[in-house]
Amino acid sequence: MCNRYQKLSRRLVCITLILLYCFIGIPLWYKLTTVYRAQLPTQYIKSLHENKHQDIHMVIPVYLNFSTYKFPDLDKAVQAQTDSVISNIENGWDVNWSLQLQNVNQNNLNYTTDFYKDKYVVQLILDDFVGCSVPYDGKDTIVFYNEESILSNDLPFFIAQSLMEHTFKLEYNLLRKGAQNGNKNGDSNIAIEYSPQVHISLSVLTGKGYPVSWEIEDILNEYFTPFRKFISPVVNLTVDTEIIYYNDLNLNKLHNSIGNFTHDPIIEDLSAIIDLSELTGKNNYYANEKSVLNLAIVFPEHDLPHSLFKNGSPVTHENDTFAVSSFLVPQWGSLIINEHALPSNPVKLSKAYLKPIIYKFSNEIFQLLGLSDFKESLSTPMLTIDSFKRITTIYSNLDKSVDTLRSLVDMTEELPQMAIPKQVADDVMEALDLRLEIVGFLNNPNDETDELIWDIALRKSNELVDICEHAFFHKDMMQQNFVPQEHKIAVYLPLLGPISVVCFGGLIKSLKEKSLCDGNEADSEETKKEK
Ligand SMILES: *[C@@H]1O[C@H](CO)[C@@H](O)[C@H](O)[C@H]1NC(C)=O
Ligand SMILES: *[C@@H]1O[C@H](CO)[C@@H](O)[C@H](O)[C@H]1NC(C)=O
Ligand SMILES: *[C@@H]1O[C@H](CO)[C@@H](O)[C@H](O)[C@H]1NC(C)=O
Ligand SMILES: *[C@@H]1O[C@H](CO)[C@@H](O)[C@H](O)[C@H]1NC(C)=O
Ligand SMILES: *[C@@H]1O[C@H](CO)[C@@H](O)[C@H](O)[C@H]1NC(C)=O
Ligand SMILES: *[C@@H]1O[C@H](CO)[C@@H](O)[C@H](O)[C@H]1NC(C)=O
Repeated sequence: MCNRYQKLSRRLVCITLILLYCFIGIPLWYKLTTVYRAQLPTQYIKSLHENKHQDIHMVIPVYLNFSTYKFPDLDKAVQAQTDSVISNIENGWDVNWSLQLQNVNQNNLNYTTDFYKDKYVVQLILDDFVGCSVPYDGKDTIVFYNEESILSNDLPFFIAQSLMEHTFKLEYNLLRKGAQNGNKNGDSNIAIEYSPQVHISLSVLTGKGYPVSWEIEDILNEYFTPFRKFISPVVNLTVDTEIIYYNDLNLNKLHNSIGNFTHDPIIEDLSAIIDLSELTGKNNYYANEKSVLNLAIVFPEHDLPHSLFKNGSPVTHENDTFAVSSFLVPQWGSLIINEHALPSNPVKLSKAYLKPIIYKFSNEIFQLLGLSDFKESLSTPMLTIDSFKRITTIYSNLDKSVDTLRSLVDMTEELPQMAIPKQVADDVMEALDLRLEIVGFLNNPNDETDELIWDIALRKSNELVDICEHAFFHKDMMQQNFVPQEHKIAVYLPLLGPISVVCFGGLIKSLKEKSLCDGNEADSEETKKEK
């Protein structure tokens, strides 16, 4: 018997299932399997990458201070001269920049000398001769002038020359087109990549087990702490010290093979023997600090041949005078090798012994950090450090961030199936905003801040590098959703196939059933009639 009510409900169930399948199931499936791809400002990032310094025109404020004569318009005259020196450079600039000349405001009482403390001030001093000097311990440029130079109106030109050749020598040389490419080779291979955190590992190594101690605490407090303070706007140094026994970095091998040499061993021969890996391996411990520099003072297990130390510097230690040689190992640090093994009685390395070593190492840190592209610029550390801040902000941090963003954009374009989480898009927008803020600091320096503008720019650009890396290495982008479309169908088909077959099969069956049932009914009516 065919129950009409039963049939109707069965058909209803079928239709409901199909509706659910089509209007909820499929959209839901689509939604769940489609990766979320947030919109990135691709075009803008690409154009930034093409021309990384397009929106930078760095402005450096400089103040002119004169006392004997009043030159009310001197700033304008010097401005015209510096502008013309800058614009007359041969190949043009990789980063546009200019100086902003102002006279020291002697009337405004708000502008106490405190305001000018960290500023670039040109001190004009009347003298018999014309000349210029840049003191070791400040950022002043002292320009001596005489009356003739006023009469001939040469003074503005001379001031402009002094600023370009001395005070802003690094900018003048390094911001030119092509200057950075040439610089990457050669001398700057010594330097590690810029990082705002660098760990300094100081160690004494001795090939023997005889006790040794060193007055390193005193030395560090006396000589190294001031250095760390001085350099802290650019890089924060953390320090650890260690004494390592029974390890002379393989120098003992030299002792065993001394007969193999056809000549007296010279210091260059050591490079094939010395094994720095043990010290370097230990540094993995400081992996959270990206960069590590080392100072290793090595006492060999056996006395070394004197021929090694022909050019070494003699050192007095206890009552013994002997030689040490020091090497600057590129991107690693400084290696001090002593001629003599330590004696068996306990030895204390004195301040007198350590002081020149630490002093030299401090200078080498400058080089290892890339602070001295030109060695003579070390004679004016204050100026060098400020220039370094600007160059690092632009060339290490802003450029690196744009490179990272560009890689991110390229990656998302190459992998259309990869998710772009909203967090990543937010990070990218934040990075671009921060970049504009930094460019603003460089282009329109507001000189009234307490903190030096270059410090702010460098600090913010360090943050920028972090944000960009955070965006690039977002875990949701790295781990999941690298599933290509075909793969996805292959995964879902075994699941969706049977469900679809059951649903559609049920519908077709139910539709067929109707006619079957009608036939039955007709049949039964016929049989009734017959009866
Ligand atoms: C520097 O400025 C000049 C003239 O304003 C411009 O033509 C040039 O493209 C700028 N350079 C950069 C690197 O932006
Ligand atoms: C300007 O020069 C005068 C005289 O040499 C000096 O007293 C004053 O401190 C200088 N001002 C600044 C800001 O250096
Ligand atoms: C000096 O500072 C005060 C308050 O900080 C301000 O009102 C005044 O205008 C300033 N004077 C000048 C000449 O800038
Ligand atoms: C070094 O640390 C000080 C204090 O924590 C901080 O103000 C400064 O910005 C840091 N320098 C750098 C280059 O990060
Ligand atoms: C030096 O020579 C000896 C034998 O003459 C050999 O056993 C040793 O390996 C050589 N050492 C080096 C460093 O070549
Ligand atoms: C060094 O010489 C001084 C006197 O000249 C002596 O008292 C001291 O014991 C010597 N030290 C060593 C390690 O020989």
